[in-house]
Amino acid sequence: MSSNWVEELQQARKDKLIGREILFFDRVDSTNRVARDQAFQGAKEGMIILAESQSQGKGRLGRAWESPAGVNLYISVILKPSIPPEIAPKITLLTGVAIANALARATGLNALIKWPNDVFIHGKKVAGILSEMEAEGPKISFVILGMGINVNWSLKEIPQNFRETATSLKAEAGREFSRAEVAGEICEELERGYALFLKEGFTLRMREEWNRLSWINQKWVTITSMDKKYEGQVQGLDTDGALLLLDREGKTQRIIAGDVSLRL
Ligand code: BTN
Repeated sequence: MSSNWVEELQQARKDKLIGREILFFDRVDSTNRVARDQAFQGAKEGMIILAESQSQGKGRLGRAWESPAGVNLYISVILKPSIPPEIAPKITLLTGVAIANALARATGLNALIKWPNDVFIHGKKVAGILSEMEAEGPKISFVILGMGINVNWSLKEIPQNFRETATSLKAEAGREFSRAEVAGEICEELERGYALFLKEGFTLRMREEWNRLSWINQKWVTITSMDKKYEGQVQGLDTDGALLLLDREGKTQRIIAGDVSLRL
């Protein structure tokens, strides 16, 4: 059985790639885990897994993702791109762009990307992406794009320890949003970005769009990457999708993965 908002989304996506098939659960451990199982069992590209709540929502770097029932979006998309595995991280970058654009369109709020792939509104995190890839040698079997979006979580329900750093669309706009509409916008933006990426690669225009939406460009930050700390001013993405950081000595560092904190 699915809720009304899922039926509405299903209706909106029935002729598209992303969301043409929707698997909905009231409660599941993690939609990414279900998506992996589905992909291993031969699910088609574009299938999305949705849940009202998750008991073991997974975040980046082994963290947990808070997944209360009935208010937010927990979505995992199955993709099967014919590209070399080393190019796959670009899909995560374009997903950040897709979510930021979709949230701005659905709410009118200024949604920005915090590298590598968090979406922020008014300086607080509103959405996160956990992408997982399965490859056999030089061939990608599938990519799972897991997206968590805080939609109608009210400020007082957000756990105390997150209130300084996390937010929701409702907390920032002061009103509720239709989850079908927000999810529909995200699927649409993602479908557009993904099709363009398969056709033309991660183009200069995509990199410029990412840079335009980057919350941390020109800011002074500390980045922790594999137990090393880098300090510098963010210059944006390079052609390979690495973050460029200009340190105090004028040397540019390329950072491929990590966690950013702002230096005030
Ligand atoms: C992050 O740490 O910012 C990434 C969070 C990703 C959470 C989403 S919710 C849907 C999907 N299923 C999961 O278990 N995680 C992702």
